[in-house]
Amino acid sequence: MSDGTRLIRAGLPEPEQGAPFMPGPAFAAPFHLQGEVDTSEWSYTRYGNPTFARYEAALSELEGGEVVIFATGMAAAAALLLTGLSPGSAVAMDHGCYLGVRRLAKTHLEPRGVDVRLAAPADLEGAVSGAQMLWMESPSNPKLEVYDLAALAEAARAEGAVTVVDNTTAGPLYQKALDLGADFALTSATKHLSGHADLMLGYVATRDAERAQELRDWRTKAGSVPGPFEVWLAHRSLPTLGLRLERASANALALAETLSGRDDVTGVRYPGLPGDAGHEIARRQMQGHGTIVAFDVGGRQRAERFLQAAELVTEASSFGGVQTTAERRARWGGDDVTEGFIRLSAGCEETADLVADVERALDAL
Ligand SMILES: Cc1ncc(COP(=O)(O)O)c(C=O)c1O
Repeated sequence: MSDGTRLIRAGLPEPEQGAPFMPGPAFAAPFHLQGEVDTSEWSYTRYGNPTFARYEAALSELEGGEVVIFATGMAAAAALLLTGLSPGSAVAMDHGCYLGVRRLAKTHLEPRGVDVRLAAPADLEGAVSGAQMLWMESPSNPKLEVYDLAALAEAARAEGAVTVVDNTTAGPLYQKALDLGADFALTSATKHLSGHADLMLGYVATRDAERAQELRDWRTKAGSVPGPFEVWLAHRSLPTLGLRLERASANALALAETLSGRDDVTGVRYPGLPGDAGHEIARRQMQGHGTIVAFDVGGRQRAERFLQAAELVTEASSFGGVQTTAERRARWGGDDVTEGFIRLSAGCEETADLVADVERALDAL
């Protein structure tokens, strides 16, 4: 069965006469719990919740590993970094990976004696020598660099290091990070997985049952659990993930092609473009090329004016929602991008309308 079909019913209970397809969220802090504590039962939502369990089971079917959900993608990242590294250990990190992860590692791990090695893609393999963890992101946010995940994971394994792939930009439908050799696949479900720009959520997938339990224990101790309603909403959005990605990726490709053909736009990056530097590797390791396009419109002012002029492009951070959004990434600082660099997340509008709107906004500059 293909994933697109599997996710339609993933995590739903067996049919029961008169019952809804998907039970409502279990709104509970404590559950009834009389007498001795039985850890196989629901006790207190920080320890677990049936709504979490259903969504985790659904995601496990897509990931091919055990899944532990967290309050946000960053909560999942913190769990991996803090349970996987200790004073005296080292992590080799792709220097173009998500800003929040780099900052967390630099400001909270480095002062506690963890060697945080930020490295350019070409130097990642060298940087993993003697390290306990390799952390990479492909395609990376925001520059859409593509790395050979299988080759790098193999190099890490040879060094005795575990590999974490932040799979957020591709997601489990378009990139099977565990199959490519990652020990852990991290996804911010705030993005495509929930898909409506209305909640925060994250998760880790792994085939190591012991480490999954360790992450679950961390979640209980640190209290980084999501709310049941957010989890229920995300699960409700899962059956449409394939449809949403199909339309949004087609829109991203159409935009990338249009932008590449213009003289007033440079540096177009989209792994689905045959001429893109990452295309060959992306073709090998991804099942779809995703919804994000990066390009440069030539300076800060032009970028700001473009974002104001485009009516179907909402100026906002984040990506993976049904509405097309974009931002001038340099406004945050901390990413190695030019002033006119724009990261655009294609939504589910009709392709012709979206392309026409972007062309009109560029023509107006
Ligand atoms: C690649 C990547 N990883 C992790 C995160 C963090 O996810 P969250 O915002 O859900 O904490 C983000 C957020 O933008 C991201 O882009």
